[in-house]
Amino acid sequence: MNASMSAAQRADAMEAEMAAELDYIVVKSRLHMMAEGDLSPPPNAGAMIRANPKLRVLMGDDPRLPAMPEKPTLIDFFKLRFGPSMHLLQSARHAVKGGLPEKMVLACLLHDIAGAGFIRGDHGYWGAQLVEPYVDEEVTWAIRAHQVLRFYADESVGYEYPQSYVTLFGADYRPDPYVEEDYKRMRDHKWYMSGRMITVHDIYSFDPNVHVELEEFTDIIGRNFRQPEQGLGFDNSPVAHMWRAMIRPAKYL
Ligand SMILES: [Fe+2]
Ligand SMILES: [Fe+2]
Repeated sequence: MNASMSAAQRADAMEAEMAAELDYIVVKSRLHMMAEGDLSPPPNAGAMIRANPKLRVLMGDDPRLPAMPEKPTLIDFFKLRFGPSMHLLQSARHAVKGGLPEKMVLACLLHDIAGAGFIRGDHGYWGAQLVEPYVDEEVTWAIRAHQVLRFYADESVGYEYPQSYVTLFGADYRPDPYVEEDYKRMRDHKWYMSGRMITVHDIYSFDPNVHVELEEFTDIIGRNFRQPEQGLGFDNSPVAHMWRAMIRPAKYL
């Protein structure tokens, strides 16, 4: 590499150097590139392989990530794909202390899995879709609803607009119109209070000193999450491919 290269050339050279050290080429999904503000063409895997015939694109497991078992369970995803997840564990414990029924404890435990392991924006909608085949309909509904309801106060349960949102989004932030419309639909729904309960037990100020073990919820997961026998990602459900995307996020095709 030398100083006269453009930033893009340097990036290409770096990629080529990295690929020479490794024996695989990582080609990110456009979504991951766009998240970096990058609309440039993807790396030319064909040309890289012609230059170094031992290279391959990633079609199997990603060597940079922990290996997943053949038939992954929800708990495997927590341990191997979702990161520390302390926010979810703290929320679920808070829900237990608040006396919520088991399925709603599960809803609290799962409410942000999309943000933890998949896609942040619209995470409530994504998260609800991820779990839909495996949980009670009310749990799916509540996870989707928390996405929307957290922007709106409900004095009847002491829920205020989170102070942290003022800091994060600015005092003048207003939810998008589709969120506003969903709110109007959701507040009259028979399961409104279930969605609301997720926001009540959502720990907005994460406490780094409270450590909760996932094992605290093994039984609740066992009783309320229909773990597919073939493993998440391989059960031919309408969302199996979404779980597979988390197993192999840089799979070439
Ligand atoms: Fe959330
Ligand atoms: Fe949350």
